[in-house]
Amino acid sequence: MDNDKLTDSNLVDEAIKVLEENDSGRFIQPNKSIYPHQWLWDSCFIAIGLANYDLKRAKIEILGLFEAQWSNGMIPSIILHGKKEHGLVAYDRHNAIWRSWLNPNAPKDLATSGITQPPMLAEAIYQIGQKLSVLKRREWYKQVYYPLLKYHMWLFAERDPHHEGLVLQIHPWEIGLDNTPPWMSELNDHLLPWWIRILRDTHLDDIVGIFRKDRLLNLKNQRLTNVEALALFSLQRRLRRKNYQFYKIIDHSLFAIEDITFNSIFIRANQLLIEIANFLGKKLPKDLLKSIHQSEEELDKLWDEYAEEYYSRDFVSHRLLKQSSIGSFMPLYSGKIKKDRASRIVGSLENEHRFGTVFPVPSAPLDSNWFQADRYWQGPTWVNTNWLIIQGLKRYGFNDHADALKESTIEMVKKSGFWEYFNPITGDGRGITNFSWTASLIIDLVKN
Ligand code: GLC
Repeated sequence: MDNDKLTDSNLVDEAIKVLEENDSGRFIQPNKSIYPHQWLWDSCFIAIGLANYDLKRAKIEILGLFEAQWSNGMIPSIILHGKKEHGLVAYDRHNAIWRSWLNPNAPKDLATSGITQPPMLAEAIYQIGQKLSVLKRREWYKQVYYPLLKYHMWLFAERDPHHEGLVLQIHPWEIGLDNTPPWMSELNDHLLPWWIRILRDTHLDDIVGIFRKDRLLNLKNQRLTNVEALALFSLQRRLRRKNYQFYKIIDHSLFAIEDITFNSIFIRANQLLIEIANFLGKKLPKDLLKSIHQSEEELDKLWDEYAEEYYSRDFVSHRLLKQSSIGSFMPLYSGKIKKDRASRIVGSLENEHRFGTVFPVPSAPLDSNWFQADRYWQGPTWVNTNWLIIQGLKRYGFNDHADALKESTIEMVKKSGFWEYFNPITGDGRGITNFSWTASLIIDLVKN
């Protein structure tokens, strides 16, 4: 679609067309040419948009995710779809990387990744529920309640091994912000295997670029650097070598971070789980309620009074990872911080030397050493994080800020199209176009 033809009156119709184009029949792909599989948080964002005009399709999106639930409760970050051989998805690049069947908890008839992604399921389920009649809502909630509960219980059981409240993540792919500064800086400083260090220091990493799939997309300076890409794949291989068995992974104290984005989303998700349980007249297990309460209290410890910012935390040392990123805004979305803290976070949204760009909210602030306007999660503005921040601003009564951010997000997409991410200064599209969550969340922003 010719981008300058997007107007107020055709925006939603054009967004629907993007989703239709990416619809594989069974689920909606993030983008049919480069993301052919089903991703957990993508599908949740897609369902939130769909719920505004096609509830049946929105439910299918969510039910597809539960089909791939592992027997221990985990919902995998990716469900691999493709031609089947021997009952599993035929050999392809993603499948070869993951080999989920190495873990006994993985489903027998579906190939998946071996890690999870931000728990946006409760939000998507709730948003669908809100648009159904009371009777139909009950039916819907009943259909998904137990698998959702099982997923949340798995998160606390496996990912909060010391019962401290916050849950840990073991790979930046689990937080969906692949190369976000706090994680990248940890990897660089502490965890790069020796052979990647040598490639980095001798600048031989350029050779690797020749083999990268995204090189063909001509996205120079927009994706991960070769060193970053190697680091993420090597970390994934280490998890695979342990067959994604958590006790083995954590025993070797690989990479473990209590990420601020993941935990803020989980805190909100638990509130919604409580609402859903109340609606159905069900009681949540006592231990779960205790963990939920604890997580809300522990979130407070991620605040740095001097920087006036929330940060992610190293799981073992409890050291705060003091690199600013879009994650700093996510506690707004959690709904569980004090109003005074929320006001101070909003301050950095207004600061034009930090996050207050022409097309906010950049994934890293302008004054960060990491900032690069076009590079993936190190600068560009993304519609999904804007959507989360808008919900958070509304929750704390910053309605003018929420409206302004909603307007600038819609303007940016109208001006450039349904891109994966955007330059926060010019608003120009970056990555690939026809990206599903950009389209679906624009529908939701326009309609609500
Ligand atoms: C990238 C993004 C991640 C997303 C996936 C599919 O890995 O960083 O958030 O879920 O692509 O769109």
